[in-house]
Amino acid sequence: MTDTAPAFRFALSATDGAARRGRLETAHGPVDTPAFMPVGTAGTVKAMRPEDVAETGAQIVLGNTYHLMLRPGAERIARLGGLRRFMHWSGPILTDSGGFQVMSLAQLRTLDEDGVTFQSHIDGSRHHLSPERSMEIQHLLGSTITMAFDECTPYPADHATAAASMRLSMRWAARSRAAFVDRPGYALFGIVQGGVYDDLRRESAAALQAVGFDGYAIGGLAVGEPHDEMLRVLDGVTPLLPADRPRYLMGVGRPQDIIAAVLRGVDLFDCVMPTRSGRTAQAFTRRGTVNLRNARHAEDPHPLDESCGCPCCRDYSRAYLHHLVRAGEMLGPMLLTWHNLQHYQDLMAGLRAAIAEGRVQDHAAAVLAGMAGGDI
Ligand code: GUN
Ligand code: ZN
Repeated sequence: MTDTAPAFRFALSATDGAARRGRLETAHGPVDTPAFMPVGTAGTVKAMRPEDVAETGAQIVLGNTYHLMLRPGAERIARLGGLRRFMHWSGPILTDSGGFQVMSLAQLRTLDEDGVTFQSHIDGSRHHLSPERSMEIQHLLGSTITMAFDECTPYPADHATAAASMRLSMRWAARSRAAFVDRPGYALFGIVQGGVYDDLRRESAAALQAVGFDGYAIGGLAVGEPHDEMLRVLDGVTPLLPADRPRYLMGVGRPQDIIAAVLRGVDLFDCVMPTRSGRTAQAFTRRGTVNLRNARHAEDPHPLDESCGCPCCRDYSRAYLHHLVRAGEMLGPMLLTWHNLQHYQDLMAGLRAAIAEGRVQDHAAAVLAGMAGGDI
């Protein structure tokens, strides 16, 4: 970027209880928060063209260091103009740093102080990731928001295990900061770890702020702990984070999880749920989840969600969607993914408006009640 690029900035325009309405300004455009980032793991939000992702209202998408370093390779993407150009997404992108995906996908992993060595889940080839290499890859991808290299502590983990894992992530966070090439309008986020232990979360939040990051993510949640446990950890962590920096809850979640986290002061989210569910015939609607494979939709001429304006709901019946799913036609996942992403973006837009108008508690209660009512 040239030095005329806008600085990376985050400004709050309203608060309602702990909930925040804000805006990120980046080198590649703004993001209104609270925001949901569709997951584009391998340089594509599966089944969607990028211009269609933008049409749902999404302003930022997520990419993955792990997948892209293995295929097609970070250096190749850099030669082709960076990930945004390669995938034809003109807005900002956030990339995860790789460690989380290594632990869930790669084979024969060995972890030490330097980083992690692993075998590709694609072809078995050997690779190494460290804080320095993760920063280099995310730089080659041209990521607007780079994530620090961390270890996502598994659940359950005892206190000693969670402490050792968190402290390793904090040493890696400092190395990530040192290796990150700062440019105007680009950002580096640290990731709070510490499992379900309040004292470790506090130590982690303090360690990251001593290093100094442009934003703070909360990692190690939605890894199998009960919903109430996640909310308890969130209640402890968000007050420890600086009010003037964005907060990102990684890998979350279902609509009810997002609503609960917005009420606790989280600004950014990502999850495979709307896209992955779209490919398995599950749709999110204002009345709750619907499985289009179910025979009750076979002759239903009504749209999936009467109050949704997406092409899936505007132009097609439940009966047709059911047929596409049963026939294994690829238009089925395409339309359901579009609808689910539209539903998530509408959810975020509704929360943003409600925060701005000081009615987020009532709004959240109404949305949750609607979902609990059941489909039709
Ligand atoms: N995605 C979901 N949870 C995590 C986490 O703890 N760390 C990283 N890097 N990515 C995640
Ligand atoms: Zn729709």
